[in-house]
Order: sequence, then structure tokens, then C-alpha cells
Amino acid sequence: MDILSSSIANYLDDLVPPRPAEMQKMEAYAKAEGFPIIGPACGQLCYQIARTMGATRVYELGSGYGYSTAWFAQAVKENGGGVVHHTVWDKILSEMAQAHLGELGYGELVHYTLGEAVEALSSADGPFDVIFMDIDKEGYPAALPVIKQKLRPGGVLLIDNMLWSGRILDNEDGSAATQAIRECTGMLVSDQHWAVSIIPIRDGLLMATKLA
Ligand SMILES: C[S@@+](CC[C@H](N)C(=O)[O-])C[C@H]1O[C@@H](n2cnc3c(N)ncnc32)[C@H](O)[C@@H]1O
Repeated sequence: MDILSSSIANYLDDLVPPRPAEMQKMEAYAKAEGFPIIGPACGQLCYQIARTMGATRVYELGSGYGYSTAWFAQAVKENGGGVVHHTVWDKILSEMAQAHLGELGYGELVHYTLGEAVEALSSADGPFDVIFMDIDKEGYPAALPVIKQKLRPGGVLLIDNMLWSGRILDNEDGSAATQAIRECTGMLVSDQHWAVSIIPIRDGLLMATKLA
């Protein structure tokens, strides 16, 4: 089950300004291969949040071939420059990202790490303005303490797939991924140090502000 009807999802995507040809190629690849990128409407929202915050330091956990990275890189570039960390454990995807993001003119902005994303974040120099998480869902709960430590006060955590095609509401779904999303949501909403909303766009984008 998609959380939005396809007509509403298409309407939201159609409102997003045209992307550069290289990003359109990335979108076409996702469609052809069934690769789960965040897509235009959610990408635009991530860009807008980072741009509005004046973010210059962004850390991505689970970056694929760089589509979500491109949205954050656009925001950071327009904010005057900084760094966007791309992390993924697939060599081919990291190489694809380097090619795409170089072509988009973000080569200088993006720092690439090949390996397990949460481990990489734990040894990265923080703090970060924005951390975006899109790794295997089973890894979400264990990532939270590391994220909390690396995000600046007032910084924003964005997490993809937090409505999980509606499966979080299916009491018969006790799969590890679904349980991990439920656990991650529970950890955030019960912690007074976070202000949390789930935006029902794409597959549910959770936004959590780290309160000072
Ligand atoms: C959903 S895709 C990322 C899509 C990307 N955020 C976008 O919208 O363009 C997740 C990627 O992260 C990788 N991945 C999953 N868990 C990971 C982890 N713990 N560490 C590093 N990479 C991971 C997956 O193999 C996959 O390539």
C-alpha cells in the first residue's frame, strides 16, 4: 500500500521545479531499476529544510548513488558552501554517486565514505546541522544515540520510510524492519530532547529537531 494515491504523489512531484538533466537521468535509472530514491517531492522538501536552516554541514547515512545527496548539496552550495557526507557500503553505488555529483558540479562539496554508515558517522568530526538517515531499517534504533551526539543543538534529523507503506499500522507485521521503525519512532517521540513530526510525503519523512 502506498501512503499517497499515485495521483496525489504525481501531483506533488509535478510541483517541483525541473531538475538538471543529470538528476533526471538519476530519476529515470531509479524508475527503470526499481531503486528506492527519495524522489522529487521529498528531495525538494529536504533541500528546503536544509536551505531554510542555512545548513552547511550535512551527514547522510545510506546515500545510494547520490540522488538525495544532490538535493542536500544544492542547499549547502546556495548557503555559501560546506560539506555533505555521502556514505554507502556498496562500491559501485559510491562510484556512481561520484560520477553523478561531479557532473552536477558538487564534486568539491561532497565527502565520500565507503563502509557502514553509522560506524562512519561515529568517527566523523561533528557537529552537523542536518543528518539524514536512509539505511536498512533494522539499523535505525541503534543509530539514534550516535546521531544525537553528532547533531548540533537546533539541528534536524530527517529519516525516510517512517510510514513504511502503512505497514507500521499492521498488527500482524512483526518483521524486523517494521519493528525497528516502530522502535525508532517510539524512542524519538518519548525523548523530551527531540521535537518530532512525521510528514506523510513519499513513504513518510520523519523530522526531529534536537532541542537545545
Ligand atoms: C534506500 S537506499 C538510499 C537512497 C538515497 N537516500 C536516495 O534517496 O537517493 C539505501 C542505500 O544504503 C545502503 N545501506 C543500507 N544500510 C547501510 C548501512 N548500514 N551502511 C551503509 N550503507 C547502507 C543500501 O545498500 C542502499 O544502497
